[in-house]
Amino acid sequence: MEWPERLVNEAKKRMEPYDVEGFVLGKGDDRGEIMIVGEAPGENEAVKGEPFIGRAGDELDKQLDYLGLSREDVYITSVVRSRPYKWVKTNKKGMGGKRKANRKPNQKEIYAHAKLLDYQIEQMKPSLIIALGGVAYERLTGDKGKISDVVGKAIHTPVQREERGGYVETEEKYTIVPLYHPAAVFYNPKIKEDIYRSLDHLKEYLEREGD
Ligand code: URA
Repeated sequence: MEWPERLVNEAKKRMEPYDVEGFVLGKGDDRGEIMIVGEAPGENEAVKGEPFIGRAGDELDKQLDYLGLSREDVYITSVVRSRPYKWVKTNKKGMGGKRKANRKPNQKEIYAHAKLLDYQIEQMKPSLIIALGGVAYERLTGDKGKISDVVGKAIHTPVQREERGGYVETEEKYTIVPLYHPAAVFYNPKIKEDIYRSLDHLKEYLEREGD
């Protein structure tokens, strides 16, 4: 996807106050039908400038495969384009070292990058947006409810777009299917059954719509 430099520079400038690194714009088929929206890059993604190439990326590939899709079929992007990090102690005895750990993006960081996701959605006009995790789902819909209540459901809704210091709803409606973020299974292995149940719903939707 071609980018107006102005938008990229503005987003980078707005992110200056925050502890973030790297910049990842998105990858895949932006002329296709399906957009996948993640949360923010992790360490590997920030270094290489590509989305989902770490451990969560391997899990995402497995889930795409289960849906009968591959990365070439979809466009992958995220709410925030730089890796939000925090300093944590390494805990090695006597070393007193520190390392950067991933953290969730805050609302100001999400807003700082909002125009980029708005631009991508407007350009691509995807017929399906898969929101990976609560951050992506809330950014797109404004719904602060629990993601567990909506995973796997096809929701026809306007999406939020940034305007004059806040968000407004788009006139067009989009179809959003929220899923758990692929990294969720690392923190909560018990969630696997729910993940595959939601993938089954999405698979049915894809089969139905593909006819
Ligand atoms: N999590 C995301 O949301 N995006 C990535 O690219 C990697 C992990």
